[in-house]
Amino acid sequence: MSSTFIFLILVFQLLFASQPCHRILTTAAGGKWKLLQKSIGVSAMHMQLLRNDRVVMFDTTRFGASNLSLPNGKCLKNDCTAHSVEYNVLSNKFRPLTVQNDTWCSSGAIMPDGNFLQTGGSVEGGRSVRLITPCNNNSCDWQEFPNGLAAPRWYASNHILPDGRQIIVGGRGQFNYEFIPKNVAANTFNLPFLSETNDRGVENNLYPFTFLNVDGNLFIFANNRAILLDYANNKVVKTYPAIPGGDPRSYPSTGSAVLLPLKNLKAAAIQAEVLVCGGAPKGSFQQSLRNNFLPALNTCARITITDPNPQWVMETMPMARVMGDMKLLPNGQVLLINGASSGSAGWEQGRDPVLSPVLYRPDNAVGSRFETQNPTTIPRMYHSTATLLRDGRVLVGGSNPHAFYTFTRVLFPTELSLEAFSPDYLDASFDDIRPTIVAPKLKAAVRYRKKITIQVKISGTVVENMISVNLVSPTFTTHSFSMNQRLLALGNDKVTVLGNSMYKIDATMPSSGNIAPSGFYLLFVVHQDIPSQAIWVKLH
Ligand SMILES: *[C@@H]1O[C@H](CO)[C@@H](O)[C@H](O)[C@H]1NC(C)=O
Ligand SMILES: *[C@@H]1O[C@H](CO)[C@@H](O)[C@H](O)[C@H]1NC(C)=O
Ligand SMILES: *[C@@H]1O[C@H](CO)[C@@H](O)[C@H](O)[C@H]1NC(C)=O
Repeated sequence: MSSTFIFLILVFQLLFASQPCHRILTTAAGGKWKLLQKSIGVSAMHMQLLRNDRVVMFDTTRFGASNLSLPNGKCLKNDCTAHSVEYNVLSNKFRPLTVQNDTWCSSGAIMPDGNFLQTGGSVEGGRSVRLITPCNNNSCDWQEFPNGLAAPRWYASNHILPDGRQIIVGGRGQFNYEFIPKNVAANTFNLPFLSETNDRGVENNLYPFTFLNVDGNLFIFANNRAILLDYANNKVVKTYPAIPGGDPRSYPSTGSAVLLPLKNLKAAAIQAEVLVCGGAPKGSFQQSLRNNFLPALNTCARITITDPNPQWVMETMPMARVMGDMKLLPNGQVLLINGASSGSAGWEQGRDPVLSPVLYRPDNAVGSRFETQNPTTIPRMYHSTATLLRDGRVLVGGSNPHAFYTFTRVLFPTELSLEAFSPDYLDASFDDIRPTIVAPKLKAAVRYRKKITIQVKISGTVVENMISVNLVSPTFTTHSFSMNQRLLALGNDKVTVLGNSMYKIDATMPSSGNIAPSGFYLLFVVHQDIPSQAIWVKLH
């Protein structure tokens, strides 16, 4: 062997040693920002992507006019403006929707049939259940059911369940959970964990981070600790240790959390890991009310929730962040985006916006997981949101740290704009290895345990064992938490070369609703970390 050849092998090993099966997306700072709309007239405090690539956004109906009039001079009980819009991703257009009873700090999920069922809010909207049936002709709107919930739910978290219902966990003063649709008369179930994690005067247990574990139980994180709940029998089956350091991570301390991508789905025992990042230290909320804005937390805590003896492992982010969103990207990386580096969630309580997103690569070695991305110019503070789109971009909107829409004489004016963040993987320099899904076109119905065959085109050199079919759920996002966020990395069973840059990819769907609740998912084909555009699939 020539010495040059050995040298090349060494260089190759150095480059790829820490990432055995990923092409490195280099460049010092990655990603691009684009302003999509200067104003959609409504501040996007809540966001839900629908199966027809439209995003429903809304804020509150109780705090004055928005900047978007209702059509035909229509008025609601408080004013004549819209507090909700439907944004069409493909046409970059929006239209007003009419929602009436207050949706402030509410929650929701997409049901298995693809309809958007949304719950709670404040005052007269606290017990509301609301429905949107997606449509392509701009005719659909909110339907409201005023007494749909058993208890008022303000700052609750929802999760879609394997049986097709939603569980709604907590909310202010509610140390219990319930289900919709309900199937029993007395539909609230006590959850003392939520009163145990309710710091007096601050709470810190709101918008609990809830994830469906692969064993069918619900992982619930509030304040700085977590339980595993058998919700069907109202039994806590596991209590996790507190995150070291003792600082709270849920609202109003407002860190964020994700269930990391689920993979090796054919294994006898599937592992599930949760990552919690950022937040505000103990006392930050009260201090910020006295104009003392404490630095946010700069740590993440990661835990294998399926472990018999689970322990949190701490990591340090490149920068501190409170009110950040965590989004699972199609290639299984996590994007930390939005938020501030001091103060707390709450009106006027955050300072020092963090303009740069950060990528987290869960499979890298500790110490080489984070990468800071290019900054935006628009602060996204309290009441900002982010959601993954079918084309791999991340839609960013909202930010209104004031009671009313306020555009002057404040540090952070109410934001009515929408931006898109395009991670590096969308860069044209990766187009040679980017898969394009040729078939099925746009939509497919897929069944548990069954094989799916996808035909893709890849113009460049293909590395077969670096192709994975990944399913990503559409999330309900508000207050820095994306409910129902889930990524199923199916890998591939077989890649067949068809010629002319065409390939047939076989993959096997998850085995049950515990792994992936029934419903609509974005299906991406990812090759060497570069995702295709997705197609929508309905898993059932
Ligand atoms: C919203 O409306 C107010 C009052 O009409 C106006 O001053 C402000 O410039 C508008 N803001 C945006 C972003 O459209
Ligand atoms: C719009 O489409 C829905 C089906 O999605 C249909 O039920 C409805 O009648 C249509 N409305 C109009 C005004 O065309
Ligand atoms: C709003 O709430 C009030 C009071 O509960 C109720 O009477 C009314 O029907 C609700 N309106 C809608 C559109 O849900």
